[in-house]
Amino acid sequence: SPAPPRFTALRGRLLSFRRAPTGPGDADSHVCIPDGLLLIADGRIQAVGTYADLKDQIPAGVAVDHHPDGLILPGFIDTHIHFPQTQVIASYGAQLLDWLEKYTFIEEQKYADPAHAAAGARFFLDELLRNGTTTAAAYGSVHPQSVDALFAEAERRGAGLIAGKVMMDRHAPAALTDSAESGYADSKALIERWHRRGRQRYAVTPRFAITSTEAQLEAAGALLREHPGVHMQTHLSENLDEIATVRRLFPTARDYTDVYDRFGLLGPTSLFGHCIHLSEEEMRRLSDSGSVAVFCPTSNLFIGSGLFDRAALSRADRPVRQSLATDVGGGTSYSMLRTAGEAYKVLQMRGQNLSALAAFDLMTRGNAAALGMADEIGTLEPGRWADLVVLDARATPAMRHRMNAIDGDLEEELFVLMILGDDRAVTHTYLRGEKAYDRAAPTAE
Ligand code: GUN
Ligand code: ZN
Repeated sequence: SPAPPRFTALRGRLLSFRRAPTGPGDADSHVCIPDGLLLIADGRIQAVGTYADLKDQIPAGVAVDHHPDGLILPGFIDTHIHFPQTQVIASYGAQLLDWLEKYTFIEEQKYADPAHAAAGARFFLDELLRNGTTTAAAYGSVHPQSVDALFAEAERRGAGLIAGKVMMDRHAPAALTDSAESGYADSKALIERWHRRGRQRYAVTPRFAITSTEAQLEAAGALLREHPGVHMQTHLSENLDEIATVRRLFPTARDYTDVYDRFGLLGPTSLFGHCIHLSEEEMRRLSDSGSVAVFCPTSNLFIGSGLFDRAALSRADRPVRQSLATDVGGGTSYSMLRTAGEAYKVLQMRGQNLSALAAFDLMTRGNAAALGMADEIGTLEPGRWADLVVLDARATPAMRHRMNAIDGDLEEELFVLMILGDDRAVTHTYLRGEKAYDRAAPTAE
């Protein structure tokens, strides 16, 4: 007979989104249970409700993790981050193309060494979990061993990642380039090794149009056609010099988006980082294909790339699916809370808004939907993985002081969390119902 399920349980204030909020005050967009219980069996949510209603269902001998002052949400999801850039973050004084040459293409060469990649993977997962991020779509380096190291570490911890080996066969140092053929073969081998092994998912990852030949983009398209369900991630329309270079390299393409479109790289499993300077035509094509535009505010400010136009991308007659991401190491924080705070400021500069409800929906349910994983993660519903974050809106003196002026209003509390919060506001992170980070636990350093 099969082994009996392993049960765990959490008690506290629960918050989960049902759909994208239409704006502030959209009370129907989410469910908040002031004293709730999550009953978890074999890592998946089995029941969710009030503690009073569910307490009799807690199996004998199961200890309940009680978070009386915590706000329990689905773990945050980061839809664009670079695993080999943890030592690129905070590199001074350059815009995109110089920043790549001067810092990024140097640092990523170190990931040829499996020991460096393994140590980097431990740091990377530690840091994601410290920030309440339980799923990420990550770029590896060009070296397949970097992706092996990352997936192995995620698997060891019970986390599910989307990741891929960067494909780049030109305009980069020789030590950091593959070829159309080897990029295809190495990616294919990684797909066979890791895609849908447990919780892991593969993303075909041509870095961007500048660093891939037509032959390599063709190979990327072939990988997608041959492996339905794998993701695709790349960069699109981030920086004006980048866009001008793409025009020079692909003179017959209508625009930057068309370069990817020609090779079959658009579609509902495709994630396009940045999407800042798009034309009307490009937005329409992204919309029609169901592609995702990934908003990376701290990166766009830090590298000086520009201001994401959420309103234009959201236009009702051609809405483009959107997600939110850190883009570390172009991005400057691993914290999705801080990322949401910077998203708010970017949109303020455009005369637009991002409500606290919209931001928290994006970080959880919305990003899960953008990854096509809404039936697995992103909400507190039966059947979903119990990947969770516990937040503390009184984490710092400034937050506590501000919270003392708020009389229990959820949206105001969420706004305080996204404007003032960061890793300090994360008290616990759970993967599959098991504690994976505890703020109060001593760290080895
Ligand atoms: N475009 C191509 N590669 C990169 C990268 O590593 N970071 C960012 N922000 N943009 C890119
Ligand atoms: Zn990026």
